[in-house]
Amino acid sequence: MKKVLFVASESVPFIKTGGLADVVGSLPKYFDKKEFDVRVMIPKYTSIPEEYKEKMEYVTNFYLELAWRKQYVGIFKMEYQGITYYFLDNEYYFSGDKPYGEIFQDIEKFAFFDKAALSSLPIIDFRPDIIHCHDWQTGLVPVYLKDSFQQNEFFRGIKTIMTIHNLKFQGIWDKKTVMDTAGLDAYYFTPDKLEAYGDANYLKGGLVYADQITTVSETYAEEIKTPFYGEKLDGLINARSGCLTGIVNGLDYDEYNPSTDPLIEFNYDARTFRKEKVKNKKALQKELGLAQDEKKFMIGVVSRLTDQKGFDLIDYVIEEICSEDTQLVVLGTGEEKYEHLFRHFAWKYPERVSASIYYSNERSHKIYAACDAFLMPSLFEPCGLSQLMSLRYGTVPIVRETGGLKDTVEPYNEYENKGTGFSFANYNAHEMLNTIRYAKYVYYEKKRDWNKIIDRGMAMDFSWNNSARKYVELYNRI
Ligand code: GLC
Repeated sequence: MKKVLFVASESVPFIKTGGLADVVGSLPKYFDKKEFDVRVMIPKYTSIPEEYKEKMEYVTNFYLELAWRKQYVGIFKMEYQGITYYFLDNEYYFSGDKPYGEIFQDIEKFAFFDKAALSSLPIIDFRPDIIHCHDWQTGLVPVYLKDSFQQNEFFRGIKTIMTIHNLKFQGIWDKKTVMDTAGLDAYYFTPDKLEAYGDANYLKGGLVYADQITTVSETYAEEIKTPFYGEKLDGLINARSGCLTGIVNGLDYDEYNPSTDPLIEFNYDARTFRKEKVKNKKALQKELGLAQDEKKFMIGVVSRLTDQKGFDLIDYVIEEICSEDTQLVVLGTGEEKYEHLFRHFAWKYPERVSASIYYSNERSHKIYAACDAFLMPSLFEPCGLSQLMSLRYGTVPIVRETGGLKDTVEPYNEYENKGTGFSFANYNAHEMLNTIRYAKYVYYEKKRDWNKIIDRGMAMDFSWNNSARKYVELYNRI
């Protein structure tokens, strides 16, 4: 039996700001329980909903030495869908209404969390063979493990994996402060270790010290070796490319299942979508106050409203996108300029555009079920989960060919009757617009071909089964 500990800053259903939480909260369920004991450790944020906090069981507490500080660490535990979760408690670090705040606070918060995660293992008597770390917030785990923890027999031989969900976020702060708060020796703060361009860099620490590195799609694993996608760490990524694997994310197929989903009004599947899916469109039009017309081409956008997701392209041609024969439904929050943009167009075209500038899981499911197409023109996309949700719900993705979008959406080819969506290559607003228009043409003029695109999309299997197998290979190899 191999023991694996996921250490991460977020996990569904407890706390989520992005796709990272979906992955951490679903992948552990897909390992064979006879072969693997996979557990998860995250912070016990005060912003975790009460319904979950109530169910957590207090295990014990200890005091952690972090540089010159001595800090309380409470350990809580909970079984959820067959997985053991540990929650590390310290209200000084983990209070507030969001998991992350100002970067200088987060830097100390996650030095604390990383060291506390390791320190708690002998106390709960769980010695993982592998610690699987996710994103910069856990970048110091491999570093601490190679540092003082080596003096303790318990930790010797534990392997680490660092998974990059988004290379853009690295956890960068000035060296002196990090040295002081993390309690790491000056030895670590050189350009071959934690230092990058004069500053301390948590993710870099993880990438240097982890035994293996993964990222969330094959294409992104290649892209990050180049300066454009490498976020100034392409040199290091190249140097470690022998230890780098791209494994595309899967989707929780129980959670996202149009035939059983309790959050949508009309359930359907690959056989019944032709009749049933459109009922969800009508219901959503009614709910959002859009013109109630089941024929109208409806495009969905569910996203963090940031530059990464390609919103500057949408901004550039939004007037053309919101033409009379189209409805645009947006859900998400993010940069103010994009929030204003969509609010403005919802005001300008109330019959055609709806902007929900907040996040709602329920509404997101309704959008996947209702829309004809889903727009995701990302500048870069390590994996992307929304296009997988769209494919599962018979909603045709329109994407830019980058990262996981390239690996999971096959462009429609009208001559060979192939493809599950529409895509474009260059980061160019008019290329995107032409692709949207082409999709719309197929929708309005070649409905049978459109439905075959949906057939092929719904037949794809992006459940975790395939990808979990690749992690198993890696866990066995390491
Ligand atoms: C990040 C990436 C996204 C990926 C997710 C889960 O949010 O931006 O592409 O799907 O992590 O790995």
